[in-house]
Parts: sequence; C-alpha cells; structure tokens
Amino acid sequence: MIVKPKVVEAMNAQIQSEFTAMAQYTAIAVYFDMEALPELAGFFYRQSDEERMHAMKFVHFLLEAGAKPIIPGLPELRNDFSSPEDAVQFALDQEIKVTNQINNLVAISNRENDYTSHNFLQWYVMEQVEEVDTMTTLLQTIKHAGGSLLLVEDFVRRNFAAGTAADAPAE
Ligand SMILES: [Fe+2]
Ligand SMILES: [Fe+2]
Repeated sequence: MIVKPKVVEAMNAQIQSEFTAMAQYTAIAVYFDMEALPELAGFFYRQSDEERMHAMKFVHFLLEAGAKPIIPGLPELRNDFSSPEDAVQFALDQEIKVTNQINNLVAISNRENDYTSHNFLQWYVMEQVEEVDTMTTLLQTIKHAGGSLLLVEDFVRRNFAAGTAADAPAE
C-alpha cells in the first residue's frame, strides 16, 4: 500500500465530509427551490454534484493506492434556513471548515512522508480557493442586493450558470 495508514484514516474522514457537503448542498438547493428562486437552486444542485465528485476522487485514489475506502453514513443536516443570506453564510462556513480539513490532511501527509498523497491533495488545496471565493462572492452579492433577490437570481444566471467557468467541473 503506497498510502500511509494515518493518511488513509484521514482521507476516509474526508470522504464523509465531502458526501456530507453533497447532501447539505442538496438541502440548501431544496430551500431555494421552495422559495421559487430557481437560479440559486440550480447553483446549489450543481455544487452538490461537485461535492460528490470530490468524494469520489478520494474513493478512486484510495482504491488505486491499494487502500480501502469507507462509504460513510451522514450526520444530521440543516434543512431550515431563516433567509437566503443565512443559507449562503452557512455554505461559506462549511467551505471554510473543509478548507481547514484539507490543510490538516496535507499536514498529516507531510508528517507521514507520504508524498503520493501530498501530491494528490494539491488539487483540493486549489479547489478550496475557488470554492471559498465563489461562496464569498455569492454572499456579498446577496448583501449588495439588499433583499432584491431577483437581482441575485440574475447575477447567478449570468455568472454561475451551468457551463460557466465558476461552475465547470474542475477536471
Ligand atoms: Fe468539496
Ligand atoms: Fe465545496
């Protein structure tokens, strides 16, 4: 097995975080769908798909490296939000948490002299820059719009529509 056991353990924990983010983003998308804000809903459905891709990259990496991926159960998720700003702030907080987790994974791979994993993880390091930036921009836009959510819908349609750079799968 190329990957070190401590790294495998931490990556399996990260697989749970990524699947949790997948389901949490679906819950946020559903909230926006119920608020009749289809662009925001679509944005979060697409984010949810991306999180599945993040989880599956770890799954396939572990398999290739001869380690066993664990497909986890998920913790309780938030399904209720007091406002669009609340939902997006929650999403941003989650991305910041995931960024810290990825950094911690890199630190573990360093400590274990696991250069294979260290190299693999660099993709996530850069992906998190984009994730935090996107969510920060969306939160700022909601604040600028001052309650005019149709302006936010327009912004999302123009900037984060399916197939645009911010939305494109990273690979
Ligand atoms: Fe992710
Ligand atoms: Fe993410």
